[in-house]
Amino acid sequence: MSKYSFLKLFSLTALVIVLLIACTDVVTEKIVDNTITQNSYHEKHRPQFHFTPEANWMNDPNGMFYYEGKYHLFYQYFPDSTVWGPMHWGHAESNDMVHWKHLPIGLFPDSIGCIFSGGAVVDNNNTSKLGTETNPPIVATFTHHNFDGEKAKTNDFQKQSIAYSLDGGSKWIKYKHNPVIPNTDKIKDFRDPKVVWHEETKKWILVLAAYDRVKFYASTNLIDWKFISDFGIKGDKRLWECPDLFPMKVEGSKEEKWVLIVSIQKEAPNEGTATSYFVGEFNGTEFKSEIESQKWLDWGTDNYAFVTWNNVPKKDGRILGMGWMSNWQYAQIVPTEKWRSAMTLPRELKLIKSESNYALHSLPVKEFKSLRGKLTSLGALEISDEKILEGDFSAAQSELDLTIDLKNTRANSFGLKLQNDLGENLVVKFNKSEGKMYIDRTNSRKNKFSEEFFKNIHSAPIDFENEKLNIRLIIDAASIEIFIDNGALSFTSIFFPTKDFTTMSLFANDGVAKIMEAKIYALDGIWN
Ligand code: FRU
Repeated sequence: MSKYSFLKLFSLTALVIVLLIACTDVVTEKIVDNTITQNSYHEKHRPQFHFTPEANWMNDPNGMFYYEGKYHLFYQYFPDSTVWGPMHWGHAESNDMVHWKHLPIGLFPDSIGCIFSGGAVVDNNNTSKLGTETNPPIVATFTHHNFDGEKAKTNDFQKQSIAYSLDGGSKWIKYKHNPVIPNTDKIKDFRDPKVVWHEETKKWILVLAAYDRVKFYASTNLIDWKFISDFGIKGDKRLWECPDLFPMKVEGSKEEKWVLIVSIQKEAPNEGTATSYFVGEFNGTEFKSEIESQKWLDWGTDNYAFVTWNNVPKKDGRILGMGWMSNWQYAQIVPTEKWRSAMTLPRELKLIKSESNYALHSLPVKEFKSLRGKLTSLGALEISDEKILEGDFSAAQSELDLTIDLKNTRANSFGLKLQNDLGENLVVKFNKSEGKMYIDRTNSRKNKFSEEFFKNIHSAPIDFENEKLNIRLIIDAASIEIFIDNGALSFTSIFFPTKDFTTMSLFANDGVAKIMEAKIYALDGIWN
């Protein structure tokens, strides 16, 4: 169910009345209690090392930039409820993208509308003249969404606006002549502007999602934007959201490509919503893709709206990003009580070329390793049937690193099982003859809160032709992130067992699975 139809369900309730009032013309800056309170962060299903809001609803990561030693994260936030509502930009900052400090809300709804997704750039040369040479402004681009217009079906209720900060991202001033990109063509889905600097033409390029395609705009000052081109797939009528565009060096060479990320609201590989990408060329006006259809940044159901950090120092040079670890099919009814949703781990992207094929690989950022605690080294293992793994770790907060000897593995299928004493489980399975991996969460909770969540076993293609297969699995209370062969494939999935999973086992069917090395790390939490 999309969030829009979900919201309709609530239309007779007092909640919606509050929502509508909150986003009409009469609202100026809304006053909410911005005090950051102490929280135990040990509620049921609370991730211990993934970013979550202290309370209430969160979706997409927004406006991420690095400035003066701090990584900033803004996010779609509704401070009044655990379901989606008039969007604000919540705010947090970090020294390492791993440990986060919650900060007061960055952007509030106003007379034009609520604040939907977008990006932020550090305007180092003060091209916007909104700051000074010595104190460059940080400029956020976002969509103003107006509920009155949506209700009246005006079709131009989404417009692009900007806000700027002169104090490193704490206080934001909305530009007084917003919107900067009005919706003159009246496109119903017209949102999520993200900006990148294009060095060759010395222009800012803004990419936004316009229903079944993206549109590009150019500007010299982040304020006056000119439409330059659009890009889509012929015949594709799916809804595109949260695009991102950036140049990237091909790993191990000087070759540069442009990557266009788009999140897709429907018909992802495992249904529902997912993040995809194209690799191609961008000449300052047009994007041309090497590939006809997009590839998937993550094959799991729960990595949406993945976007990257702006202004990462050149000498660092990494492409860093994060996604929302949920899916619109069920995000609003997952059984967490105080808050809803987490972000994925921060990830580094690499562009890998093999023959003429370009692919994005992703792995948790290296800073994540600082959370590793005690190591249980199980060495080489031969698995036939099932083996419970024991050591200095708890199954619900751990990282496993397995290297499978594929050449000498006779078992056709093998994998990992997490379970609790209620008989609930999550199964990760690799099947050689089918050339696939599977995540089965259909039995991960007795009380099935959503049909869609439990309906299918999810899968991804795996190449079993190599001599070895490396599988890295990171488990955090209610999520698993799987990275195959150094990030060549990633798979993110959430689950909500009635009680935490306490047992971790390896299994093999129809023969022996040979594991060359098995390591398990206990992982520290980030919330004290
Ligand atoms: C993606 C999205 C965006 C929109 C935001 C609203 O998850 O639908 O397109 O800006 O969520 O919260």
